[in-house]
Amino acid sequence: MDADILFKQSIEDKERFWKEQAKEIDWFQFPEQILCQDKNDYPQWYADGKLNICHLCIDRHIEDGYGEQTAIIYDSPVTDQKKTYTFNQAKEEISKFAGGLVSLGLKKGDTAVIYMPMIPQTLFAMLACARIGVIHNVVFGGFAPHELVVRIDDCKPKALITATAGVEIARRIPYLPLVEKAIELAQDKVDHIIVYNRQLVDNQHEMFEGLIDYEELVQKSEPADCISVESTHPLYLLYTSGTTGKPKGIVRDTGGYATALKFSMKYIYGVEPGETYWAASDFGWAVGHSFSVYGPLINRNTTIIFEGKPIMTPDAGTFWRIISEYKVSTMFTAPTAIRAIKKEDPNGELVKKYDLSHFKKQFLAGERCDVATLDWFAEHIGVPAIDHWWQTESGWPMLGLMTLDDQYKIKRASAGKPIPGYDIKIFDENGYELDAHQEGYLIIKLPLPPGALLGIWNDNERFQSSYLSQYKGYYFSGDGAIQDEDGYIFITGRVDDVINVAGHRLSTSEMEEIVSSHPDVAECAVVGIDDELKGQIPFAAVVLKNGSPITEKDVEKDIIRMVREKIGAVAFLKNAMVVKRLPKTRSGKILRKLIRTLLDRKDFQIPSTIDDEKIIEEIQEKINEYRA
Ligand code: COA
Ligand code: AMP
Repeated sequence: MDADILFKQSIEDKERFWKEQAKEIDWFQFPEQILCQDKNDYPQWYADGKLNICHLCIDRHIEDGYGEQTAIIYDSPVTDQKKTYTFNQAKEEISKFAGGLVSLGLKKGDTAVIYMPMIPQTLFAMLACARIGVIHNVVFGGFAPHELVVRIDDCKPKALITATAGVEIARRIPYLPLVEKAIELAQDKVDHIIVYNRQLVDNQHEMFEGLIDYEELVQKSEPADCISVESTHPLYLLYTSGTTGKPKGIVRDTGGYATALKFSMKYIYGVEPGETYWAASDFGWAVGHSFSVYGPLINRNTTIIFEGKPIMTPDAGTFWRIISEYKVSTMFTAPTAIRAIKKEDPNGELVKKYDLSHFKKQFLAGERCDVATLDWFAEHIGVPAIDHWWQTESGWPMLGLMTLDDQYKIKRASAGKPIPGYDIKIFDENGYELDAHQEGYLIIKLPLPPGALLGIWNDNERFQSSYLSQYKGYYFSGDGAIQDEDGYIFITGRVDDVINVAGHRLSTSEMEEIVSSHPDVAECAVVGIDDELKGQIPFAAVVLKNGSPITEKDVEKDIIRMVREKIGAVAFLKNAMVVKRLPKTRSGKILRKLIRTLLDRKDFQIPSTIDDEKIIEEIQEKINEYRA
């Protein structure tokens, strides 16, 4: 395989290239039409093709004689449980749960919200929806009720599927009080709430009226078959942070996605069917969808559901224990997880306890990976650590390396080269393509390849303005980047209000909306500052209303609590500093980048548009006082 030739073919003869790739999966009706445009001139792949992704993940492997292969391994150090499911067993669970959903009246095109922890029933629920054409929306279990409300009101689910609790190391997180609150606050009324009772403690007092027991529903239901859906039928919605307070419901198709994932498993991750592949991400993120569920199962890999943390469950050797115990060949995690392990086990003592002889490659994504972490990995683990770049919107890697035949070359600090299908360019503000080594905006020439987003749920205007209106004919990624003379790309970070906290994508605008709602706050700016462990953490600079009697300590405490209550603990806003005024341009725009640079104590240039230069010194003094 020559990666450069493959890339060239994917750009110069797209339809032929992606027709060939589509043959790698099983269709109920193979598409005649490979690429066409929707009414807004946005590309649609395989429009007249028909398939079912649950069939590709489960039933097809059984038909091929692999029913007794382990499909799923559940390993939960936090509850001291381990369990495996073969493809046959998974089919039994999924088809009966799908039958249960049908018996409740759910049908193709309806939506269902899944708010669950890292347990097999979450995966079953996703695939059960896919089996009957119900569009799922998985909500990260660490989000607070407000986040659930936003999603319920936007996608109007017929059913909400949840569990009694999640477990954070030793802390039980009861979900039902959160669900009850969300249901109370949501304008849309959900018809059915299905609860998987984990029976971790006596939780009867947490139950509320009208809940449907997951296990009972499965037991009493007849299995449902996979229905045939159009390639462009939405498989799921996944909400992600944008530049306003309201998350965007990214719509994923079925046929393009299945094709792209099959391609990824083979060429990017280089995994053979039958191997164990582990993406240690929560189901609530894009990685969890694409590479804990759909990608590995389509490729007939055994996937691992890990309920725990890389450290403290019970120690920083837990990743290596799992890799060794289940003979994992390929793993995917966020650099923050490796940084956490490195901090606990700097000399790699825990690594030595395990046999990692089956381990071939480590993939990293979700945030920038620092070279010190790569060095630690190389010294102590000894398998290649391969950075690659993508977004919820793409659903699969856009930058990376084609590792199928091991003929790839890693350049440290680079997220790799454009993946076939992604015609990536670096543009300046005026839409001119930049030369090598110049920093600019990473943009992608349309059409995006199969699997990338179909749009934003019920909001075409926002879809156009978020991604397509900046440069006509191109997708705007929101990331800055530099390309070198060999075509390797280095991501320099977001160019908007999105930040990445421990691999979790969050919006500073959303946090600003919450902080501004404090009765004593006149205005505020929330920025992402550098953090050694989490990559970035949010920091709030607030101006109090004139005459407000509140103390700086109290307002900080309130803000921390409010963000935790509204978004969830993952937002990790732990610092709020009171300032007399915020630096602004003469036209009144807050200079957030300047605030961030000052907080990071980095060199800065005084923006030419600044209203009053004196404010820089004022803020620097305040930072010194705050940090003292
Ligand atoms: N449910 C409830 N609370 C949760 C949660 C969940 N699912 N996940 C995290 N939280 C809480 C944590 O308990 C913590 O609470 P605290 O401040 O009260 O202690 C807070 O949110 C911050 O969590 P986090 O930043 O995730 O730190 P952590 O120490 O719990 O975990 C990592 C560290 C590295 C394991 C974790 O951040 C991680 O796995 N990140 C990778 C994310 C990822 O996979 N992204 C996808 C791209 S690859
Ligand atoms: P998400 O949609 O949650 O996957 O987050 C996508 C964002 O994470 C991207 O727009 C980048 O800003 C960041 N990101 C993802 N992967 C990488 C990477 N390998 N290097 C740098 N940033 C990354």
